[in-house]
Amino acid sequence: MSDAETSAQKSTSPKSRTVGPDDPVPGVAHVVLVMSGKGGVGKSTTATNLALALARSGYRTGLLDADIYGPSIPTMLGVTGRPVSTDGKTIEPLERFGLKLMSIGFLLEDPKAAVIWRGPMLHGALQQFLKDVAWGDLDFLVLDLPPGTGDVALSLSQRLGVSGAVMVTTPQPVATDDVYKAVSMCRKVNIPILGIVENMSWFVDTAGVKHELFGKGGGQAVADFSEAPLLAQIPIDQSVREWGDKGTPVVQAAPEGAIGQAFMKLAEEVVGVVTAKADEGGDQAPVIDRSGGGGGRRRLPVTK
Ligand SMILES: Nc1ncnc2c1ncn2[C@@H]1O[C@H](COP(=O)(O)OP(=O)(O)OP(=O)(O)O)[C@@H](O)[C@H]1O
Ligand SMILES: [Mg+2]
Repeated sequence: MSDAETSAQKSTSPKSRTVGPDDPVPGVAHVVLVMSGKGGVGKSTTATNLALALARSGYRTGLLDADIYGPSIPTMLGVTGRPVSTDGKTIEPLERFGLKLMSIGFLLEDPKAAVIWRGPMLHGALQQFLKDVAWGDLDFLVLDLPPGTGDVALSLSQRLGVSGAVMVTTPQPVATDDVYKAVSMCRKVNIPILGIVENMSWFVDTAGVKHELFGKGGGQAVADFSEAPLLAQIPIDQSVREWGDKGTPVVQAAPEGAIGQAFMKLAEEVVGVVTAKADEGGDQAPVIDRSGGGGGRRRLPVTK
C-alpha cells in the first residue's frame, strides 16, 4: 500500500472523546495511551504498530513519543529529520508512512546524548508536545509512554481527556506484578483501561513447535484484574525486532504476515472499544491541575 493510500481518510470517524475548554489537542478525537508498569515489554513496538495499523485502516493518526528520557520512535520509524516551525509558535510534526510524529529525539543534537531534566521540565516538554505541535485534526493520537506508573501518565491525565490506556504486559509474574500497579494507578486517576496487549506470548520454532517462553496466562490475568478485554496476544518473532531496528515497523513491512495481521486486528479492537466508551460517555474532560511547577514556561529548541 502506498503512503497516499495509507493516509486515505475514513469517511466516518469514531465518536470523539470529551474535549474540555483547556484541552491542548482539541482537534484530536481520541487520545490513546500505550503504557505498562514494566520496562521492555513492548510498549514502543505496540504503540508504533498500533498507530500504523490505525493509519493503514484509514484513520488520521499521530504518534507522540512521551518517553522523554528514552525515546524509541525515531529509530523504530527510521526518522531523523528535524521539526520546523513555520510561524515561530507551533512545531510541525514530522511525517512517515502517513503518521504524524513527534519525539524529543527529533530535537536532540546528538542522539546518544542524555536528557537530564527534572520533573517540571519534563512536564513542560510534554505539555508543549501536545499544545505547541500542529497536530491538526486527527482521529487518533497514540502516546508511547515511558515505563513505570510515574508522573507522565498522571500529568497527562490531569491535562487532557484521554480516551484510555492500552496496557502492555508479557505473560510472566515479574511483569504482571508491575502492570497491576499501573492498572491501579489508572483507576485512581480515572484513565479507562481500553484493554490489554500480551506481548511475547509464545515463540514458534522452525519445526512449528510453540514454546511459551515466559509462561502463560499473564495477559488474561491482567485483563481480569482490569475488567477489560485481552485485545491481542503477540508472539515473539525475530522480524518484530529486526523491522523495529530498521525503522519500518512490521505492520508496514509485512502487513499480510501473522504479526502484521495481529496488529491490524488490535487496531480494529481499539477502535471498537473507544467508540463504545465514547457512546457510554466514558471519556471525561479532566479537571485541570495548575499546581505543577514552572516547567510550562520553558521552551524546547525549535529550528526555524
Ligand atoms: N513480539 C516481539 N518479538 C520480538 N521482539 C520484540 C517483540 N516485542 C518487542 N520486541 C523487541 O523487544 C525490545 C523492547 O521492545 P520495546 O522497545 O517496544 O519495549 P518498551 O516496553 O517500549 O521498552 P521501554 O520500557 O524501554 O520503553 C525491542 O528491541 C523490540 O524490537
Ligand atoms: Mg519504549
